[in-house]
Formats: sequence, C-alpha cells, structure tokens
Amino acid sequence: MERIVINGGRKLGGKIRVSGAKNAALPILFATILAEDVCIIENLPEISDVTDSLEILRAMGASVTMLDLTTAKIDTTHIVCGTAPYELSSAMRGSYYVLGAELSRFGKARSAIPGGCDFGVRPIDQHIKGFTALGADVATDNGYVVCDCHGRPKGAGIYLDMESVGATINIMLAACKAEGQTVIDNAAREPHIVDLANFLNACGADISGAGTSVIKIKGTKRLHGVTYAIIPDMIEAGTYMIAAAATKSHVEITNVIPKHLESVTAKLLEMGVDVVENDESVVVDGDNELTPVRVKTLPYPGFPTDMNPQMCALMCLAQGTSYMNEGVFENRFRYTGELAKMGASIKVDGKMAVIEGLGKLQGACVRAVDLRAGAAMVIAGLAAEGVTYIEDIRHIERGYEDLVGKLANAGADIRRETVPEEAVQKAN
Ligand code: EPZ
Repeated sequence: MERIVINGGRKLGGKIRVSGAKNAALPILFATILAEDVCIIENLPEISDVTDSLEILRAMGASVTMLDLTTAKIDTTHIVCGTAPYELSSAMRGSYYVLGAELSRFGKARSAIPGGCDFGVRPIDQHIKGFTALGADVATDNGYVVCDCHGRPKGAGIYLDMESVGATINIMLAACKAEGQTVIDNAAREPHIVDLANFLNACGADISGAGTSVIKIKGTKRLHGVTYAIIPDMIEAGTYMIAAAATKSHVEITNVIPKHLESVTAKLLEMGVDVVENDESVVVDGDNELTPVRVKTLPYPGFPTDMNPQMCALMCLAQGTSYMNEGVFENRFRYTGELAKMGASIKVDGKMAVIEGLGKLQGACVRAVDLRAGAAMVIAGLAAEGVTYIEDIRHIERGYEDLVGKLANAGADIRRETVPEEAVQKAN
C-alpha cells in the first residue's frame, strides 16, 4: 500500500510551478474526437485522470503518442462510436464528455455512467436535459448512458437549472456540429469552459460567450486538428497558496493566471496572509497570525468548491471561529473526520461547517477520502506538530502532478513510501 509521510512544522520556500489544469485537460482530450484529425495537446498535467483519458481514447481507436511528458499527439480519425471501455470510464468523472463528443460527431453516443469523487449523489439530469433538447433519445442500459439523435443533433435553446460545469461542457460538445444554433442559458463560467471553447474554436467551431452565463454555439459541418496548450490549474495553484499560508512560509507560485485566483486571494488577504500578484505568478507570505473567516463556495467566479477542504484545514490554524458554507455539493465534508484525528474541532450541519480554530494540529494517521480532501490532509500534515501518515493517496494522484516532489523541492519533509501488505494487515 502506498502512503505519504510528512514530518510537520517545516517552512516552505522558493518557487512552486503549477501544471496544466485537470478540469480543462479532460474535456479538451475528449473534444479531440470532434476533430477527426491529428491534435497536439500541450501542458497536460501528469496525473492518472489524464493517462486514463488517453487510454480511453486509445481503446476507442485513436492513435495516441506522448511527444514528451506533458504533450500528447492524438489522431481521432478512426475513432469507433460507443467503444469507451466501461472499467476506465466508470472510474472517473470526466469520461462522460465522450457522450457530448460522440453525439456531435456520430449523432449517437454510449458511455458508462461516470464515477469520480464521492460527495453524495452527482446526477447528470442537466446533461440529459441538454442532449434531449438537441433531439436525442437518452436511456440508461446496464450502467451505460445511451443517446441517439437518429441523425445530426438539432440546435436548441437550453436553460440549465444550475450552473453545472459538466453539463455546460457536454452540451457545448454535443452542439458543435448540430444543425443550427444552440444557446446555453445559466451556463457555468469557469476558466476551463473558456479554455475548451478556445480549443474548439481553434479547431473551426463557432462558439461565443464562453465565460459568461450565455453561450452560443453555431453548428459547423467539419472541424480539424490543432496544436493547443492547456491553461494552468487554478485549484492546484490555490492549494499551494494555502500550503504556504498554513506553514507561515514565503513562496512564489509560478505559471498561474492571477485573475483565476481572485476569490482565493481575497479570502487569504482577509485572514491576514500577504499575497502579491505578478503577471504570471503569485507570492504568498504567511508570517502573520491567521484571522478566522467566513467562506461560501459558489460557481466561478465565487470561491471554488474544490478549495473547500484546503481552506478548512487552514481555518483550523486560525485563532477563533470560522465558517465554511458549501454552496455547490450536498456532502463535501466527509474529510472533517480525518482532520478531527489531528485535533481539529469542526461541527458540520448539512452544508455548513463551523471550525473552532485552535491555532495548531497534531500529526496522525489519516486517509484521503477524495481528491481535494487528500490535498487538505497534506496541508494539515505540513503544519502539524509531529508525523502524519496519509493513506488512499490514489485519490490525490488523480489530480495533482507530483505533489510530494513539488513540496519536497520547496523544503517540506515529505515522502511517498510503500508499506508491505503484511505490515498493513498486522496494523489493522
Ligand atoms: C466539475 O464537476 C469538476 N470535475 C469538479 O472538480 C468541480 O468540483 C465541479 O465541476 C464544480 O466546479 C471535473 O471537471 C471533472 P457540476 P461536475 O456539474 O461537472 C449538480 C475536482 O476536485 N448537478 O458543476 O460534476 C451537482 O450535483 C472535481 O477537480 C446536478 O444536479 O460539477 C452539484 O451539486 C471535484 N445535475 C452541482 O450541480 C447535473 O446534471 C455542480 O455540479 C449536473 C450537476
């Protein structure tokens, strides 16, 4: 079994470079299905969700070659509809972008009902609402979602009941080659949606309004291949900003787009953390005492739900009562039990967590219950007195490129180790 071991209390320093954005890379990789041509995608993060997505494309008949560790050459000319492998697709969330891409290209689609982080039920009713509006019959069959437009999708007006990132992306993909225009109202505005629209437009699509609540897609007959670089990962950047604040360190986080981090920067400034924005980096200085704060997570440009766990870990280190109101998912607080093992005092009532900041945490043996919760445990371990062991780190490695290496290079006493199975059985 693999685990992360952290000897806490060390300051960080120097620079930490952010990789490409996971939540932009996944839709763009599946959007290459629309090009029916060769695409070269640069600045891919080295994470298992990306390698799994490339595996899914290969299994569907694409030719995929890594030109270097972060650049993939993908030829989707010979993709076969409905062949995304069940085991890989059902293990991650982003695989369901196959549906929108296949609908656009083939007029029909089939993919496993998606998996991903467990924060309660994660329905896809808004995706289905969009596909149905575009003329598809949609059914579920033995764990698969099956769609059929009986010809080309037809442009339509779609109002989303909530600003769903996934549904906005999937409908954009499905509408790219539809007959006529599609308008998505109440669309999500995340930077990764803008990145996908930029990629698709570079391939010859006709999308306007990405980044606003109204996105217009004029269907085009053919798209073509392109070379495209993924934007930097704002959640990875925010995670390292909070790690610097939690360890009272002075760190420059590079390869970022500061505008994407505005809500995180604003909250850190409220807590007394110094943040200086440069063109492509932010410098965090966490020397001051941390002030408690109230946070509500919201769709972009609000405070990201994907920063909820990391911010809660930081709130534990402030002196006084902080509040975390989860405005996006129904059950994103499963990690608070793991922080409690480190001495945290957090009361959760539905979508509200009340954090009694005690100014310190103690090392313990904890689990990564999901991707961002795992990052929060690393942050807590960096700040804690003593040693922290983090298990189930596969969740972390789905979405963070070389988290251990980047932190070790910045001065953390952190390592990844393999514990022999017999030692694990004995301990249990
Ligand atoms: C994407 O998930 C991200 N995942 C999540 O990041 C992120 O937390 C989320 O967007 C919000 O920003 C990927 O991009 C792969 P949503 P997604 O559709 O698309 C409800 C991470 O850590 N909803 O915006 O699944 C849903 O239950 C991951 O990188 C419906 O009710 O999120 C939730 O309450 C975790 N019906 C809310 O909308 C639907 O059809 C927002 O979900 C779709 C969503």
